[in-house]
Amino acid sequence: MQKFAKMVIDKDFRISEIDKRVYGSFIEHLGRAVYEGIYQPGHPTADANGFRRDVMELVKELNVPIVRYPGGNFVSSFVWEDSVGPVEQRPKRLELAWRSLETNEIGVNEFAKWTKAVGADVMMAVNLGTRGVADACNLLEYCNHLSGTKYSDLRISHGVKEPHNIKVWCLGNEMDGPWQLGAKTPVEYGRLACETAKAMKLIDPTIELVSCGSSNTGMPTFPQWEATTLEHTYDYVDYVSLHQYFGNRDNDTEDFLALSMEMDHFIKTVISVCDFVKAKKRGKKDINLSFDEWNVWFHSDAEDDDTMKNRPWQHAPALLEDHYTFEDALLVGLMLITLIKHSDRVKMACLAQLVNVIAPIMTEKDGGAWKQTIYYPYLHASRFGRGIALQPVLASSKHDTKSYTDVTDIDSVAVWNEEADELTIFAVNRDLKDDIVLTCDIGNFEGYGLIEHIVLECDDLKAANSALRQTVAPKAGTETKVDGRTVTSNLHKASWNVIRLGRK
Ligand code: AHR
Repeated sequence: MQKFAKMVIDKDFRISEIDKRVYGSFIEHLGRAVYEGIYQPGHPTADANGFRRDVMELVKELNVPIVRYPGGNFVSSFVWEDSVGPVEQRPKRLELAWRSLETNEIGVNEFAKWTKAVGADVMMAVNLGTRGVADACNLLEYCNHLSGTKYSDLRISHGVKEPHNIKVWCLGNEMDGPWQLGAKTPVEYGRLACETAKAMKLIDPTIELVSCGSSNTGMPTFPQWEATTLEHTYDYVDYVSLHQYFGNRDNDTEDFLALSMEMDHFIKTVISVCDFVKAKKRGKKDINLSFDEWNVWFHSDAEDDDTMKNRPWQHAPALLEDHYTFEDALLVGLMLITLIKHSDRVKMACLAQLVNVIAPIMTEKDGGAWKQTIYYPYLHASRFGRGIALQPVLASSKHDTKSYTDVTDIDSVAVWNEEADELTIFAVNRDLKDDIVLTCDIGNFEGYGLIEHIVLECDDLKAANSALRQTVAPKAGTETKVDGRTVTSNLHKASWNVIRLGRK
């Protein structure tokens, strides 16, 4: 069968305004994310606070709007009080989630300073593993209350006069996971999260709260976990979290590139559970989705198990340092397209993580910072994917893989940035053998011409970047034409494409 793809793009067929927080990321006290990642006093690029300027430049280039902190699994035994006050008095602790040594040189105030410097907001997580309502309230009072109370005055005594005004708070992390410190049953978590949320909203009614969803779709309690916990938390929370990591463990690229369909299915299932709970409660508000951990993660598994088992309690060990291949970047592109397609309900998402740990940005301790393959689709989506997501009326030839049927050869979505008067088409050709022509009818975008076509492609699906070589990097595409209301683009086999159109 002839392979093809055609799409109709119309200003009036809208999914939603995209919440910019969908391009968020995540920094956990894990491996070299914080230490040797964002913070390395003595590094030639370090500023007066010890923050690496080379890393900050790359984060700023990505225009990351919000960064989740401090975990992840780390948060489930985090004692936030250890991380504030005079640095020399902060205790060193055994960090149980990653069996590492936590020095607490960086804590809540330093991280808030770093996010401000890179132009992002903090998404703060509270410990509902080993701690509970009171500790979460104390941290919120410390961060957001102006002054005149125990914890706001403690913050001021630590030299931070203005409150951080952190808007988004996660109620724990992956509390269904047996690996989680203080893991809970759905009823235990639902009750605790409800009481914590109620108290936190009394302290600061302007905050938004994220209830923990399942750790991934493979959890035995998925999606009953969402139904039970939301029945407890519905009145007090605004979002439910989703986490999902994929890997090409069987070295079957066609199957791997179909995994964004799993993500799509996951999102649809969680939306239906949220709507079920809303209906059951005779509720008025929608619970939206915070996809606050997503990425490819599998390359480093064996090494990490070995480090944690045989060489524990190191400070900033190299953990979760996946070196991403070109095919990983394709899947990341497909996952971004999926998130944009669901922008009516997915209001926040975090590429997990940002620096060194399953990250788009890597650092050399005695060298520079460099861009992994996945940096590029994330950069393009964050930079050009702001505005209104348009309903993709898309027809594409399809193929079957080992685990999936009817996988479209092309997946695509368009975003209209009304302010900039630009239309961007994101498209992945996940066919590994053939180029495919995408024909778009851009109807009422009359007068738009091509600004540029950016392509990420590589003959070697397993090619990765390094400190020395950017083997996988975007280049200018030359096979896109705009003729009146028709855009025709030859999408190369296995490629990520960004077609930018604007008023001529
Ligand atoms: O991002 C790495 C880990 O993945 C996080 O700590 C945890 O929440 C998830 O299992």
